[in-house]
Amino acid sequence: MSWWAIDVRPPAAERDAVGAWLVARTGQAIEERDDGTLVTFAADEAGADRLLRELHERNGGVTVSRRPLDPVDWTTRWREGIAARRFGRLTVTPSWLAPPADGVTVVLDPESAFGSGEHGSTRAALSLLERHLRPGDRVTDLGSGSGILSIAAVKLGAAHAVGVELDPESNVVAARNAELNVVAGAVRFLEGDAAELAPLAGPADLVLSNILRTVNVRLIPAIAAGTRPGGLVVFSGMEEVEAPLFRPVLLDAGFAVEDEVTDAGWWGVAARRQ
Ligand SMILES: C[S@@+](CC[C@H](N)C(=O)[O-])C[C@H]1O[C@@H](n2cnc3c(N)ncnc32)[C@H](O)[C@@H]1O
Repeated sequence: MSWWAIDVRPPAAERDAVGAWLVARTGQAIEERDDGTLVTFAADEAGADRLLRELHERNGGVTVSRRPLDPVDWTTRWREGIAARRFGRLTVTPSWLAPPADGVTVVLDPESAFGSGEHGSTRAALSLLERHLRPGDRVTDLGSGSGILSIAAVKLGAAHAVGVELDPESNVVAARNAELNVVAGAVRFLEGDAAELAPLAGPADLVLSNILRTVNVRLIPAIAAGTRPGGLVVFSGMEEVEAPLFRPVLLDAGFAVEDEVTDAGWWGVAARRQ
């Protein structure tokens, strides 16, 4: 079998959405280059062509090219770049690596739902979650994807977590990940639009919303309604350059910024509902 690499160069504002689509479409982790190129793989030339066609059809503004790879065993090689990631007390590790002896571990393999330790926006959210979660917190996780943030919240001491996700297939993966991490009794994944379900899932002490900035802006009223007064919201899914656009939106909506994190060009912010 001869594998092909597909180099995808989306406009900066669409990189997150195109990356999420690629992970969902291929079931593989993507490689993110410093210049913004996303690299994914296909098992043969016909597969590469199919992916190119779909990319053009579904993601209008992207530039795409493909190249053949040396004949190596990519079915196992793709694992090599994936490492355990540490966020204070919390470690997120793939199942094929030994868990650390100390702290709290979430075991999660990159699968067909967005959310492993391999994306900067997820890592920014995990860092802020680890810093700010208090034992017994009630947590809502909007756009829960693989369930990584809900699972991490419960492992770090949340009383329970409710994930809300548009994509039903992601919820299947998330439920499996919760079982694998032995937290299924304390997390629930609801299918639907966070704009409708965020208020119903609350009142939360801590809300996580790792979604694109445009979606976060649209969700702010629903998020405020689902957060107790004085509760904290972790917003992520935005690039560093978007921070000056989002901070005023937060202030207007009655939130005070408490903490910020950047990771690989992605920005996360923890803001308190006044
Ligand atoms: C960037 S991923 C985050 C996944 C995971 N929470 C993480 O931190 O890695 C965003 C997720 O939000 C979901 N999503 C987008 N808009 C949504 C909405 N209005 N309501 C619920 N889920 C939404 C997408 O399907 C996707 O799974």
